[in-house]
Parts: sequence; structure tokens; C-alpha cells
Amino acid sequence: MATQVKRVTINDIRAMKQTGEKITVLTAYDYSTAKIIDNCNIPIILVGDSLGMVVLGYENALPVTMDIMIHHCKAVVRGATHALIVGDMPFMTYHVSVEDALRNAARFIQEAGVQAVKLEGGVVVEEKIKRIVDCGIPVMGHIGMTPQSINQFGGHLVQGKKLEAAQKLMDDAKAVEQAGAFSVVLECIPLRLAALITQNINIPTISIGAGPACDGQVLVTNDMLGLSDFSPKHSKQYAKLTDIMTQAVNAYRDDVKAGVFPTKENSFIIDNDVLEQVKAKLH
Ligand code: KIV
Repeated sequence: MATQVKRVTINDIRAMKQTGEKITVLTAYDYSTAKIIDNCNIPIILVGDSLGMVVLGYENALPVTMDIMIHHCKAVVRGATHALIVGDMPFMTYHVSVEDALRNAARFIQEAGVQAVKLEGGVVVEEKIKRIVDCGIPVMGHIGMTPQSINQFGGHLVQGKKLEAAQKLMDDAKAVEQAGAFSVVLECIPLRLAALITQNINIPTISIGAGPACDGQVLVTNDMLGLSDFSPKHSKQYAKLTDIMTQAVNAYRDDVKAGVFPTKENSFIIDNDVLEQVKAKLH
């Protein structure tokens, strides 16, 4: 009998903050990538709405819908049997009402099969996080430069540099913790503010552009693999897959044109008499 792989739980993630073990998080949007990431023992896979840009080619994440997210989450769930999978709630799927937030969070669990959802905002979404958690659905918070508010911020700008903004971020982090979230992403905020938040809340903080003092780190996989159009300052490229893929595609095109591929070895055989009979019918 095949041994059942134990899936990472939110308790495992919470415990990592206590023991000081750094938490690694990567995004995935499809089966094959999820499988590779899962085999590398990354404990959390985020199906981020960043797929709007890196997979679907939109300018930002705002056009991403629930149906798109569910579709991609299902593929990731099929690929990853060990990691805790978090589905990112898209723009306007939890803003209008608590009922909306609950119904859409439930779709992630029931239809897509993920184990948790992520939503953006602090104090303003506190009640929604609380109600989703009360239904038994784990929530990852997300504060700072929250991409769904890109138009409100006027661009991808670092948040929390001035006193009022820094205090707001501390209040947001505490609100997310208070509401029952199991972790919180801190995006593009000054590293010393991120350190202070990390020391003053009991749930793990996950950095993306928030420096090394956080309890963990998340990257958009396409950025770290060198598949995106550009590499943000807060990211790090661990491979240049665009170059490798370009080389491979060029080599394939050249092989086919030159008659070097396919060969007999890539082909299938047919019995002579079958072929002769087909030939005979031609005349
Ligand atoms: O959508 C996403 O990938 C995210 C991460 C960048 C945190 O929200």
C-alpha cells in the first residue's frame, strides 16, 4: 500500500514561528509546477492572483475572477500532496459583504480543495477574516502594498514609511492576528517596521519586500525562475528559464527544418503487408 503523505497544517506553520524555523512560500498556478515545488518540501504553496499577470498576461491582478482562481487551484491541488495550499481571494470577492466573503471562501475549500484562503487588508477586513475563520476556514492575511489596491496607492509604492502609515500597518497586523488569521504577508514595507511587527504579533509574518526579520518569505515563482518580464527589487532570480526555453525552442525549430527531428527512433512501425494492402487500394 502506498504511504499517505501528511499534509502541512496551519499548526505546523504556527509552530515554525515558535521554533524559529524560517517558512518558505512559493506561488504555483498549474499541476507540473506545484508538483516540483511540493517535491522540494516547500511547506506553503500560494495560488496567487498574481497569475493575472504572470500566467494570463494582464497588466495587474484586478481582472482575475473566482472561476479563474478555482480552475488554477484545482490543478495545483492535483500536483501538491504535501504543502498547505492557499487560494488567493480575487478583487471584489470579499469586499461587498461578509456573506460574499464566506460564500467565496467556501468555494475555495469545497470546489478547489485548497486548505486556506488569503485576503488583502487589515482593520477594514477584520470582521470578514473573523467570520471566515469562525466557519473553519484558515485565513492568511496580507497587508502593506496590497496589489488589489494598486490604483488607490498610485503604483507599486513602499508602504508605511511615514508615522501615520507605519502606525496603520502595526494596527492592521494586530487586527489580522486578532481576527484569527494563521499568518500574514507583509508586502513592500520597510524592514525595521516589518521586524517590529514580527516581534509584536504571535502569528508568522511572511515577507515579500519586507526584509529578513520576518518569519518567512514568499516569492512569485515565475519571478524567481526568470520567467517574468522583469525582476522586482524585492525578488531574487535563481534561474533564467526564459533563456533556457528560448534556446530549446530555437533548437527544436532548427531540427525540424533541417530534418534532424523526428528520426526513426521517434517513430512507430507498421507491418509490411498492412502497408502493401493500403497501397494496393490506392489504384
Ligand atoms: O498574488 C500573489 O502572488 C501574492 C503574493 C505576491 C504574496 O499575493
